[in-house]
Amino acid sequence: MAVTGVLRPGFVQLRVLDLGEAIVHYRDRIGLDMVGEATDGRAFFHAFDEFDRHSVVLREADSAGIDVMGFKVSADSDLDHFARRLEAMGVGTEEIPAGEMPGVGRRIRFTTPTAHVFDLYAQMDLSEDGPPVRNPDVWRRDPRGMRVERFDHCALSGVDIAATARIFREALDFALTEELVDEGSGARLAIFLSCSNKAHDVAFLSYPEDGRLHHASFNLESWHDVGHAADILTRYDMSVDIGPTRHGITRGQTIYFFDPSGNRNETFSGGYHFYPDNPVRRWDGSHAGKAIFYYERQVTESFMTVTS
Ligand SMILES: [Fe+2]
Repeated sequence: MAVTGVLRPGFVQLRVLDLGEAIVHYRDRIGLDMVGEATDGRAFFHAFDEFDRHSVVLREADSAGIDVMGFKVSADSDLDHFARRLEAMGVGTEEIPAGEMPGVGRRIRFTTPTAHVFDLYAQMDLSEDGPPVRNPDVWRRDPRGMRVERFDHCALSGVDIAATARIFREALDFALTEELVDEGSGARLAIFLSCSNKAHDVAFLSYPEDGRLHHASFNLESWHDVGHAADILTRYDMSVDIGPTRHGITRGQTIYFFDPSGNRNETFSGGYHFYPDNPVRRWDGSHAGKAIFYYERQVTESFMTVTS
């Protein structure tokens, strides 16, 4: 499979209540490298194994949550192509000029029926201390904290997740990899979408309020690193949601916790490889326990109700 069009999740901009506390969390505990701080108070980070300038942006605000998730596309012409297809579906777009976000080219912005804001962009400056490419060592500096390799995906909560998923599938060529469906009503409870051969690049979860962040997720190299993340969480008395455990859906090995502002984070490893000819994996709502937490076989109250 040649990955074209939308390549991958590129960045997430999160709102935090106290930028200083958040920097300690994302830099020292999760292990991201801080790139710089813009004059408008945003702080920029990237993981040690990411080439681009930044993948996480923190913005100090009065409420926690997500401002925008960005997807990188393979060519500048893709931006016009996808803008036309979004508009044809009745999804309004706006162009944000190059440079509004430091190091990033022009962006096409749209908002989903679940009130989540997404940007498409084709160009971002390379990081000055990204992964080596000539006779490359495994990393440039010893990974820190939880040793996350990359920003991986977001799970976003809202009301009409089926309508939002339709936009990603029909206008942006995402594939449906897996879904959790109420077998009585047929309502989608959770939808997992991929633009690559990952089990998911974005997920949408049914929730009574729009525009909410369920979690922002970072990839780890191994199940052993999930245990190491658990050690970090306990060593620094951080707020744990659940784990280490495993998902039935995507089969990722995972641990969930909260940043100091109440944004849920995930660090995970594993999961299957997806190819576009794979049948859709479908879970019945009556099997939601195993689907979501394969070892506990039941869903926790906090995981279903807490968003930011
Ligand atoms: Fe996740």
